[in-house]
Amino acid sequence: MNRDDNIRKDAETDVFSSLEMREPAPAEFLPKHKTPAEIAYQMVKDETFPQTQPRLNLATFVTTYMDDYGTRLMNEAVGINYIDETEYPRVAVMCGRCINMVANMWHSPEKGEWKTGAVGIGSSEACMLGGVAAWLRWRERRKAAGKPYDKPNLIMSSAYQVVWEKFCQLWQIEMRTIPITHKHPTLNIEEVIETCDENTICVVPIAGVTWTGMNDDIEALNDALEQYNRITGYDIPIHVDAASGGFILPFLNPDKKWDFRLKWVLSISTSGHKYGLVYPGLGWVVWRDKAYLPAEMSFSVNYLGASISQVGLNFSRPAAQILAQYYNFIHLGEEGYREIHSNSMAIAEYCHKAIGGMPCFRNYADELVNPLFIWYMQPEYEKKAMWTLYDLQDKLMQKGWMVPAYTMPKDIEDMVVMRIVVRQGMSRDMADMLINDIRDAVSELEKLEYPTPTRTAARKNEKTKGRVFTH
Ligand SMILES: Cc1ncc(COP(=O)(O)O)c(C=O)c1O
Repeated sequence: MNRDDNIRKDAETDVFSSLEMREPAPAEFLPKHKTPAEIAYQMVKDETFPQTQPRLNLATFVTTYMDDYGTRLMNEAVGINYIDETEYPRVAVMCGRCINMVANMWHSPEKGEWKTGAVGIGSSEACMLGGVAAWLRWRERRKAAGKPYDKPNLIMSSAYQVVWEKFCQLWQIEMRTIPITHKHPTLNIEEVIETCDENTICVVPIAGVTWTGMNDDIEALNDALEQYNRITGYDIPIHVDAASGGFILPFLNPDKKWDFRLKWVLSISTSGHKYGLVYPGLGWVVWRDKAYLPAEMSFSVNYLGASISQVGLNFSRPAAQILAQYYNFIHLGEEGYREIHSNSMAIAEYCHKAIGGMPCFRNYADELVNPLFIWYMQPEYEKKAMWTLYDLQDKLMQKGWMVPAYTMPKDIEDMVVMRIVVRQGMSRDMADMLINDIRDAVSELEKLEYPTPTRTAARKNEKTKGRVFTH
């Protein structure tokens, strides 16, 4: 008897006695026939098995823990499309309330019942909307003055997040980057001013720089632009990319001026799904006033049962994240956000101290302004080390942790760093487990008698390029 004759194909077939469990998973073509739901479920579920547990993923800024009520609300709303505002008008109202609260958290001066803003699928969409608005406003001004409007540029530090490269590529805007260096680890304001000209649509400082965890000095930038704009007669504004910082600064450093308290800040974007504490994907962008949101960016559609006007790159989008954000706002309030982020900060500081205290490492920044930090190998130690931070990343991955090692941006790309982002869901006990795993990994790596492949490659690179990095 053929072994396959034993395979049953009925409702009583056990998942792991099915034919599907011994055949390759569909990868190229849509299967011709159906697969029972339990088996299909198991196959999809099992694809995710070898991955890191999201809460051990210390590479991401994005929420990996929400409480049961928030999760429940999201699951219950999973079939709701946000764009169907006629059918789900309360979702649109909640969205407007969230925009109001975010705008007020950032000291919006706008009067009226509804503040001017938009929801996005993440900071990327929110950044793009802020960027497009700045470009259209600039273009309008140039047209009105009878001046050419074909060479727009945007200025930010070289530690930009990739969304800005996408934005500049897609809208054909020249991206002028100011290198971050060991001397100027954040946006160099003097160089910004030297780089500005009549074609600059905006300057984009970052609150919570992805690469370093630091903040650009937005108040100093505002002051410098105030003077520059006064002298030149230009109106170069600021869009703040506050992907992480937008939900950290208001709670952990409320007196710091980085938002609409500053005159030239005309728009701000953030990720609701980072320190806004909502599962992905949710972003927010707010303008200082409706006057700064060009009319061309609002599109009206009337086929949903009423005339709906919306601002966004995508049309359909999940509503669940908006419910979760509104839930977080009600449940946590300012107090709750402050407490959660203070805990994240305390745990980040604890890890920072423990890692910076190991002889093989050195922290990049002495003090933390956000609950994330980077560190690098102590230069003297590195000269003799048989391993690199990439080897440490691999070792930690074997324990389930994702702690990324990467090279810094252009001009300091010889520097390899590692980063930890602490978020809600990381406890002191987990931090202790991580630190112990780092210590164990280092002591194993220190037993190596021969260099690892990544160390050999790094040495070759040093020989050809020379060592550039000292800090
Ligand atoms: C500074 C900054 N801007 C923009 C983004 C893009 O955010 P999102 O993943 O929400 O699209 C990130 C993501 O890490 C970021 O750190």
